[in-house]
Amino acid sequence: MFTLLSNQPPVAMKPLPSMEFYKDNTNLKWIILVVSSIISISSIYYTNILVGQLKERERNQVNLLAKALEYASTDNQNEFLFITEEIINKNKSIPVILVDDKGIITSSNNIDLDSNLSKSKKDALLQLALASMKNTYPPIEIIFKDPVTNIIYGKNFVYYKNSSLLTQLIAYPYIQLSVITIFVFISFLAFNYSKASEQNRVWVGLAKETAHQLGTPLSSLMAWIEVLRDDPEIKNKGIVEELDKDIRKLRIVTERFSSIGSKPVLKSENIYMLISNVVSYLQPRVSSKINFEVYTLSETILAHVHAPLFEWVIENLCKNAVDSMGNSGTIAIKILRGNEDRVFIDISDTGKGIPKSNITSVFKPGFTTKKRGWGLGLALAKRIIEMYHEGKIFVKSSEENSGTTFRIELKSAGLA
Ligand SMILES: Nc1ncnc2c1ncn2[C@@H]1O[C@H](COP(=O)(O)OP(=O)(O)O)[C@@H](O)[C@H]1O
Ligand SMILES: [Mg+2]
Repeated sequence: MFTLLSNQPPVAMKPLPSMEFYKDNTNLKWIILVVSSIISISSIYYTNILVGQLKERERNQVNLLAKALEYASTDNQNEFLFITEEIINKNKSIPVILVDDKGIITSSNNIDLDSNLSKSKKDALLQLALASMKNTYPPIEIIFKDPVTNIIYGKNFVYYKNSSLLTQLIAYPYIQLSVITIFVFISFLAFNYSKASEQNRVWVGLAKETAHQLGTPLSSLMAWIEVLRDDPEIKNKGIVEELDKDIRKLRIVTERFSSIGSKPVLKSENIYMLISNVVSYLQPRVSSKINFEVYTLSETILAHVHAPLFEWVIENLCKNAVDSMGNSGTIAIKILRGNEDRVFIDISDTGKGIPKSNITSVFKPGFTTKKRGWGLGLALAKRIIEMYHEGKIFVKSSEENSGTTFRIELKSAGLA
């Protein structure tokens, strides 16, 4: 079912156009983003209107307070004094400070002061509060006049700032905005996670099922080959040997599929030997004008790998390299020891290269530029290297029309 299993993809199976089931659900993400932005913006807008109204109301309240103070001072004997007192005491929310014409604080209200503090501490705190009020709103004047002569004999000033209700209301939309942002962010994560784990189950399930289905005919073929081996008419014609090779390949394929369906056990393996195996398998199966070159610093470099899966990766990368070169070219495989106990495997071709715009997409399942590609080879390679080997695989370099180098990084297991 994968192109990598045979040189010619099976004709009967046409690739699905772009593998719809793997497509990102980008539209839904945009809708959620737009809707939550609209909610946030309208909430900020509406709260701003409320804030404006409340500000005006508080200013009116302070104005009224100033008027009441003015009135109380002009006519102490007034029988309506209880009304002015009522107004003055009614203000339980707006912090106000009363200052005389020399700038000295004469009284204050609704300012949070710890009653245990010393007088000098309280005064210092009041001065601080006054300074911040001076920066917030212009003061409201109280003019003291002689009621008879109308001569002005003094002025006081009422400074004030927003009540804590108003302050909270101003902060509210920003708190709401952060909550919405965190919520959307977490939803995206959860959404992506559930999608990824669903894809994971598809991968693993399909692989296990394939291995399972291949098992039965394979054992029966192996029994049949023993029967043929003893048949005098078929013996010594090379047929059984050829069949045996094919069956061996089928067993490798089955093993690959069953290993990817469960967590494979890693062993310390000779990387040069594994790569040589793949090369000697591939070489007779591709055009004779394609050269394979394997370089290694040492023929005994070891790494922790699962041999059948690792060979599958190398095979995939080599097949892609062959595809990119058409009929002739060179595939160079270099095995290097990096620092920090890493083994690097660079696979270079002299093919048509990967355009810059595609470099981030080549590892996505379903991404292919080939007429008969499935776009699963590199996705599979990435899964095998990153999930099962805790290594890395990436495009190290690529130049259009001159070639590409893929690098695999694995944890070293020393030298043999
Ligand atoms: N060595 C390479 N040179 C140029 N392009 C490559 C190479 N390897 C992969 N690609 C690009 O990445 C795509 C995905 O590769 P892959 O996942 O193996 O799927 P497929 O081989 O079925 O197309 C290819 O279609 C090709 O465009
Ligand atoms: Mg491929």
